[in-house]
Amino acid sequence: MIIGIDIGSTITKTVSIENGRMIKKIKTRAADAVTSATGALGKLIIENDINIADVQGLAITGAGAYKIKNDIFGIPTKRIDEIHAIGIGGMFLVGEDHIIITNVGTGTAVIEAGKGGIFHLGGSGVGGGTIYGLAKKLLPTADFNGVLDLAKTGNLNQVDLLMEDIMETDISFLNKESTASNFGKMLDSAGYGDIALGILNMVYQVIGMLSVFAAKSKNLSRVIVTGNGSNNPVGKDVLKIITDMYGIEFVYPENAEYTTAVGAGLSWNI
Ligand SMILES: Nc1ncnc2c1ncn2[C@@H]1O[C@H](COP(=O)(O)OP(=O)(O)OP(=O)(O)O)[C@@H](O)[C@H]1O
Ligand SMILES: [Mg+2]
Repeated sequence: MIIGIDIGSTITKTVSIENGRMIKKIKTRAADAVTSATGALGKLIIENDINIADVQGLAITGAGAYKIKNDIFGIPTKRIDEIHAIGIGGMFLVGEDHIIITNVGTGTAVIEAGKGGIFHLGGSGVGGGTIYGLAKKLLPTADFNGVLDLAKTGNLNQVDLLMEDIMETDISFLNKESTASNFGKMLDSAGYGDIALGILNMVYQVIGMLSVFAAKSKNLSRVIVTGNGSNNPVGKDVLKIITDMYGIEFVYPENAEYTTAVGAGLSWNI
């Protein structure tokens, strides 16, 4: 068994891989990379009655992996490049061999993965961390579900300048409800729900448009969305509108938040 550990900037994701399949998975969170990795390994082993002698190797990746230089607890430990891990994990989860992956974590990375190689096309600092940080100062809660609940009560018209505010007719493929400027209106009457929706709308519009340009530049019509940020119902609604406008489909594979950890585990033999 190989254990893949993705020490992300915020959350550590750990999976066990046996015979090329993901068997167990856990998420943990700790203040530093070493505690995260060792704690996650211990939790996975103890909670699943895994015999440590059956663990052939630890494949570690993610922002915190560089802080671990040596083998952990005497188990052979390899550091796997994060972009490579996302590419391998993405192809495995969807069973396809040429894809664009948009990994929405604390920040956002866009990757092309295929037989010709795995390439980091670019990304943005706009991601899950942006939602958290803005919510912390602007909303009564930065809790993920709290922000979502607030956003469900929101009205974008209170915060965003919309096309209908500046144009009398549709322009190109933009309709009257399209955002002309994120937070460009911000009425005095805007409440927490409106601001929460404005934040999520802005973050997923940026992520969606980056993905559209990446897919179009590679002549692909679908984008695989991974990372914890793939699991955001309001974000998915924003991406659906982008699909309707630009014809690029967003795909949310099962276990998408474990993509990087799975990809690291599957890369053990490279
Ligand atoms: N259930 C959830 N659904 C969506 N987003 C979430 C959820 N729980 C946490 N988040 C947000 O997702 C972000 C973390 O996502 P993820 O674990 O994919 O990133 P990471 O690997 O730690 O970061 P990065 O890949 O950028 O280094 C955090 O900003 C967090 O606020
Ligand atoms: Mg990550």
